[in-house]
Amino acid sequence: MARVELRGIVKDYGAVRAIHGIDLEIEDGAFCVFVGPSGCGKSTLLRMIAGLEEISGGDLMIGGERVNDLRAAERGLAMVFQTYALYPHMSVRQNLAFGLENMRMPKDQVAARVAEAARMLKLEPYLDRRPRALSGGQRQRVAIGRAVVREPRVFLFDEPLSNLDAELRVAMRAEIAGLHRRIGNTMIYVTHDQVEAMTMADQIVVLRDGRIEQVGAPIALYNRPANTFVAGFIGSPRMNFLTCTVTARDAEGVTLADVHGRVLRAMVDARTLAEGDTVELGVRPEHLHPDPDGYPVEIENVEQLGGESYLYGRTPDGTALTAHLSGQTGLRRGARAHLAIRPDLAHVFRADGSALPRLRLGELEAAGPGGPVAG
Ligand SMILES: Nc1ncnc2c1ncn2[C@@H]1O[C@H](COP(=O)(O)OP(=O)(O)OP(=O)(O)O)[C@@H](O)[C@H]1O
Ligand SMILES: [Mg+2]
Repeated sequence: MARVELRGIVKDYGAVRAIHGIDLEIEDGAFCVFVGPSGCGKSTLLRMIAGLEEISGGDLMIGGERVNDLRAAERGLAMVFQTYALYPHMSVRQNLAFGLENMRMPKDQVAARVAEAARMLKLEPYLDRRPRALSGGQRQRVAIGRAVVREPRVFLFDEPLSNLDAELRVAMRAEIAGLHRRIGNTMIYVTHDQVEAMTMADQIVVLRDGRIEQVGAPIALYNRPANTFVAGFIGSPRMNFLTCTVTARDAEGVTLADVHGRVLRAMVDARTLAEGDTVELGVRPEHLHPDPDGYPVEIENVEQLGGESYLYGRTPDGTALTAHLSGQTGLRRGARAHLAIRPDLAHVFRADGSALPRLRLGELEAAGPGGPVAG
């Protein structure tokens, strides 16, 4: 087990800087998820930690020791990839044992570790099968098992579930989270799937273009996104944004007017705003609900899932708006709906994208056992 710390980590590919000086502390035993759009540098960062990619600048500390110059095998890490690349001609047992035998570990010790990993990952019935006789989920469990038997200080995962179908992904998500609870090692997990990030992480690191946008607990990022990028990335469907002008501000928040002069309120610390400033009002789809006094929206599409419904519409100025309602709705395509925006759940972003502090905590945040959440 080990704490991982990145100090000013930089990666240059020739003249191109892919990672721009990352500072990050991952606590011993934490489940840390790197998330962000394609090309933001998730894999590059993970591969630098693994020792598969040279670090161009900065210090990488694992367990308090600077490891920049240690080879991958000397860092005490194990990595699980998207393509699990099992040896097809070997049984599951041999696949699990191979890395340890290569390290010339005594046979009885290898057998004990393989047995333990097989038990933990529920692979015991398959130990004598070849990989081609396994399902995708079982193969991925073998790939994880190859990491487990090495008893690494830190586990690294690079999109390990993206080759699996939706149902298996959900099941494997729970298995990896369960593995983390049982063995308690530090885990660093790369994904571009914000649902995976939200459901598995203790700590989410949102990356964009080789820089950190925000670090925090999942619910803290949901409740207090630092900027429009994080606000749009965390939460599904993504947050709605309405361009507004500040008309007044007071101790309780800010009064805004949309492009048609409709009045909207948001409970944010608006001291740094001035009347006339242009801002983006951020409203999550799940924070809209029908109300005769609500904001007018032309409904373009309705998805009824039975237990919940999605409305896709446009405001009078043409801005797309999504609403996530619980239960079923009588609203139909072509109808005009009125959707209420709760001022205590709304977000406000300055023209540069940065968020204003919300004055009321989100409901979950306020109710949570962990006390106040930073952000
Ligand atoms: N060997 C390389 N040479 C030059 N540029 C590279 C190299 N490897 C990666 N890059 C660049 O570095 C940036 C980050 O790539 P990286 O693979 O880390 O992204 P990612 O976040 O893992 O994306 P994805 O979600 O698509 O896997 C990209 O712009 C990529 O083009
Ligand atoms: Mg990648």
